[in-house]
Amino acid sequence: MAAEDTDAHQHHAAEGGSDTDALWAPPTYAQVRGGLQASLEDMMMTQRAVRRLRPDPVDDEIVLRCIELALKAPTGSNGQNWEFVVVKDRATKAKLAERYRQAWKIYGGIGHKVAEGGSDAGGLAGMVAKATGSSSPGGNESMRKILAAVQWQVDNFEDLPVLVVPCLRGSRAPFVPMPAIAATSYYGSIYPSVQNLLLAARSMGLGASLITLPLWSATSVRKALGLPLSVQPACVVPLGWPKGRYGPTTRRPVGDVVHVDRFGHRPWEGQHLEAGSTDE
Ligand SMILES: Cc1cc2nc3c(=O)[nH]c(=O)nc-3n(C[C@H](O)[C@H](O)[C@H](O)COP(=O)(O)O)c2cc1C
Repeated sequence: MAAEDTDAHQHHAAEGGSDTDALWAPPTYAQVRGGLQASLEDMMMTQRAVRRLRPDPVDDEIVLRCIELALKAPTGSNGQNWEFVVVKDRATKAKLAERYRQAWKIYGGIGHKVAEGGSDAGGLAGMVAKATGSSSPGGNESMRKILAAVQWQVDNFEDLPVLVVPCLRGSRAPFVPMPAIAATSYYGSIYPSVQNLLLAARSMGLGASLITLPLWSATSVRKALGLPLSVQPACVVPLGWPKGRYGPTTRRPVGDVVHVDRFGHRPWEGQHLEAGSTDE
């Protein structure tokens, strides 16, 4: 069972707003900053893609604090070659939405085929399903729920209050073959900060997700955001007050993915240490 935006485990009072709650008002930074004291384990256990967000604004200080905490992450050679574009302008969001819709028309279609087919797809379909989460270990029901949540996000993209676009300075040379370590060090210098951002958002009760499909066309994203050629967008993190709820998430047992000394030697296969870490 895993499926986004539907499960219990609401952690923070700030998440309590619902569509029917007329008294709800978006919280200020002062009201939610205490959430950052929450147990790291609880936050990690329940952080997950929350795509359905309310259109209400998010206090700038909350967004800034999330990014400030993101900056505590490591970067290759401590280059700190990151830039974060915060998008609140509706027309700019609409430009990214257009790209997201184009990409989703293709990938969402494949995702639905995979969900209906009931099997693990290989090739492009499998890759796409994995990138968007639509081949989740939770099975087809979970896939269908994720697909519906992505569809909601695609349809309501302009209404998401804030998009954070983490970027890297120092472009990769396109079409030039590079050793794997160059690629891994390049993107490895942004994703730790993105995870920090997601955990900070979760702790303060914001809904967030990590998405890449709106970056379908680097050229048009660059144009929409005014990015110079030397700045490469890595992903998009929409932030807002959640309509749905956080975790738990569905993941494979730790013992299934841990290999000791040599790939394939998995003495802990099937094991997990804490209940709730998988669907079982
Ligand atoms: C590199 C990357 C790209 C992703 N791109 C998208 C995307 O374009 N759209 C989307 O809805 N989710 C996207 N996701 C989110 C995944 O679907 C999500 O992390 C996964 O389903 C796990 O979800 P959970 O944490 O809620 O269990 C992306 C995740 C990663 C790591």
